[in-house]
Amino acid sequence: MSKAIRPRAVIIGMMGAGKTRVGKEVAHIMHLPFADADVEIEREVGMKIPAYFERYGEPAFRKVEAELIADYLEDFDGIFSLGGGAPMTASTQDALASYIEDGGRVVYLDADPAEAMERANRGGGRPMLNGDANARWKMLFAQRDPVFRSVANVHVHTRGMTPQGAARKVIDMV
Ligand code: S3P
Repeated sequence: MSKAIRPRAVIIGMMGAGKTRVGKEVAHIMHLPFADADVEIEREVGMKIPAYFERYGEPAFRKVEAELIADYLEDFDGIFSLGGGAPMTASTQDALASYIEDGGRVVYLDADPAEAMERANRGGGRPMLNGDANARWKMLFAQRDPVFRSVANVHVHTRGMTPQGAARKVIDMV
């Protein structure tokens, strides 16, 4: 039985796809609360994500990330954006499957790769893109795109769209 009393959705996708921007817009239009996993992680650990990666490494980050997401998927009735790498963690994949069983929507925000890559580079502060950022982004996309497709129950292409346009499309599909 679903515990949700309102429509709720999780937004996944690559770095730079616009998960936070679009998620906020969806929440605003639907009059739902919004949460961003990266922001909540930074609050919980008391430091910025790049600093956390530097100090404790990626495996420690993934552990904190997976635990926080599991808690939110249980209790948060709203729109929730995940960090790009979150769906690669096995326990998060299981949690997303339960969330869908409970009536939730997992939305793969599938942006044009060139647009997403450019936004991800421009934004900075992404330790997974250290080094040759475009090459790193493309390699991660190749690994993650099949996983995003398999864990999502809604797939939204946003090529060339504004955040508002993409949000409208998400709302039409959830
Ligand atoms: C990551 C994406 C980031 C953040 C962290 C790791 C990734 O979130 O969680 O830097 O592995 O793709 P965004 O997708 O919001 O940039």
